[in-house]
Amino acid sequence: SKGTYANYMLKEIDEQPVVMRKISSHYFDGKDIKIDEKMLEDVANADRLYIVAAGTSYHAGLVGKDIFENLTDVPVDVELASEFGYHMPKLSKKPFFIFLSQSGETADSRQVLVKVNELGHHSLTMTNVPNSTLSREATYTMELLAGPEIAVASTKAYTAQIAVESVLAKAVGEYKGVKLAQEFDLQGQLALAANAIQTIVEEKDRFKKIAHDYLANSRDAFYIGRGIDYALSLEASLKLKEISYIHAEGFAAGELKHGTISLIEKDVPVFAYVNDGVGAAHTRGNIQEVEARGGHVLVISSKKYAEDGDQVVLPAVDEMISPIVSVVPAQLIAYYAALERGNDVDKPRNLAKSVTVE
Ligand code: M6R
Repeated sequence: SKGTYANYMLKEIDEQPVVMRKISSHYFDGKDIKIDEKMLEDVANADRLYIVAAGTSYHAGLVGKDIFENLTDVPVDVELASEFGYHMPKLSKKPFFIFLSQSGETADSRQVLVKVNELGHHSLTMTNVPNSTLSREATYTMELLAGPEIAVASTKAYTAQIAVESVLAKAVGEYKGVKLAQEFDLQGQLALAANAIQTIVEEKDRFKKIAHDYLANSRDAFYIGRGIDYALSLEASLKLKEISYIHAEGFAAGELKHGTISLIEKDVPVFAYVNDGVGAAHTRGNIQEVEARGGHVLVISSKKYAEDGDQVVLPAVDEMISPIVSVVPAQLIAYYAALERGNDVDKPRNLAKSVTVE
């Protein structure tokens, strides 16, 4: 039930710290990760991982790519289910498939799984619904443990997917003797992330004001970032357009100047994420380009850039899993922008919670 909440979305945003702690205590036994040994071997033997998903789950897959490549040393492809099913590329010799699906019922993902099974490849579904179709038909299942997600806009399933991807990546990396995986303190990071999210959700009024100040009169909005922040930008913009109906784009910060910057004019809201260490200096340059054209920029970063303008300073966590934390301001901004417009936050127009047609 919604309890004292006016709608499910806000409740589900608030549940994320608890979900992070639950994933940590479920998948760890002391310092050791407990997952299916056979699955571990299967994934470790693959020469390439294919992550297949739709919507928000696809965005969680984009974040997962970095985590898997860093911790397991295996190359990863992330594929939109709706494309991959009909245009399957030449696969590697020993592929392993990971399906990400909150509902476990997404038809686009399922039709890929049917083909994967016909080809005789092994697969894993990470899902919130253990008895779902995608869970039953895949070789293995890992549970997201996010609890029922009712609001159409996915929030806690996204952060749970990134956390569970990290669990698998660390386990596989340790199994293969990858140093980075052995050294990565995932338990510590998940605890930090839980606390960080808690800090953010306790500042709701701040995000309500940001939503008002930046979006009350806007038709368009941009989220920009590089690397891990680019993946995050795609999710942040989907959240905003899905429930507020404001046209939003997630953009690789460096690509703006190759065309899209022509859309930046006075007061156009631009939310700039700067957590990616490698790209930070260049993203700062892109922010200045946007500001020079009158764009209304909000910087969101765990580093303080006090010199210019507005900033949300995020509590710091390891960059690899930083989207678990940095997505939360975007979820809250989308929520309050939708609320201010009088939209049905939990049931946005034209959408269903699970999309069972291809
Ligand atoms: O249940 P799934 O994770 O397979 O659903 C995939 C998408 O339909 C879903 O994430 C959709 O994009 C959400 N409404 C986004 O908030």
